[in-house]
Amino acid sequence: MIQEILRLKKEKNALILAHYYAPLAIWQVADRVGDSLELSRAAAAAEEELIVFCGVRFMAESAKILNPKKKVILPVADAGCPMADMIEEKELARLKAEHPEAAVICYVNSSAAVKALSDICCTSAGALKVAASRPEKEIIFVPDRNLGAFVASHFPEKTFHLIDGHCPIHNACSAADIRRAKELHPAALVAAHPECGEGVSELSDFVGSTSGILDYCKKSKAKEFIIGTEEEIVWALTKACPDKIFHPAKDGFLCADMKKNTPEALYRALETEENEILLDEDTVTAAARALEAMIRL
Ligand code: 13P
Ligand code: SF4
Repeated sequence: MIQEILRLKKEKNALILAHYYAPLAIWQVADRVGDSLELSRAAAAAEEELIVFCGVRFMAESAKILNPKKKVILPVADAGCPMADMIEEKELARLKAEHPEAAVICYVNSSAAVKALSDICCTSAGALKVAASRPEKEIIFVPDRNLGAFVASHFPEKTFHLIDGHCPIHNACSAADIRRAKELHPAALVAAHPECGEGVSELSDFVGSTSGILDYCKKSKAKEFIIGTEEEIVWALTKACPDKIFHPAKDGFLCADMKKNTPEALYRALETEENEILLDEDTVTAAARALEAMIRL
């Protein structure tokens, strides 16, 4: 299957992008494995005519928005992100009407239509930088309340308006899980994603994106870490740092939607070129403003 994927990839001159939460087998055939910011950048710079995005829908949509002339395919049509569905255009329009002076920062885990109504996007890797770049005293931050609260804690001079969006997988990692993991592994440092549940960032030695966690563990002199994000990343950590030990912060830290990107699904996608991302032009133009503002920064 892997050989067939590589053959088709070459034949079709396709670029395969894979998020760190996609299954390990997919990493073997991907041109680039990364966090959502790195993959957005790679999609924007892609010269290949076909981009196959082994991630979830909002990631493939961002690739299309940033490089609209390319054909972008999501191997499995229903690989979505539940958090992205927790804010709709209507609700954001209502928030904007309620707080007309506020800048709208929208986490990339959102629909193209929501991005189109936003001033700037952010990923977890650059959220603090994005917030620092806005002169407004008020910020509407959607949809992730945990990332929003983490960002807000760095800007006490600004007022943040948050909603109740969250990642069901990361939000289920609680402060109690981290305390328990620390009791079991007292020498370990904690590196966690800002999407984790309330109180986790305060208990962490490092809070950042998936690639940020990887970099932190690589550079740290410590030998043992508790990892507060999707557990596929533990493979990358173990490969990058064979002399270090990594403990997932809790059992079952798995994104089922990311795991839909099986080798079989990728093979089918390359063969049939089905599940193309199609967006209307006005949405692409408006959403591109917010995404490109993030990429420029
Ligand atoms: P990253 O920006 O760290 O890749 O996170 C994306 C995501 O969906 C985390 O759940
Ligand atoms: Fe969405 Fe959570 Fe999966 Fe990330 S881990 S893609 S936020 S459901």
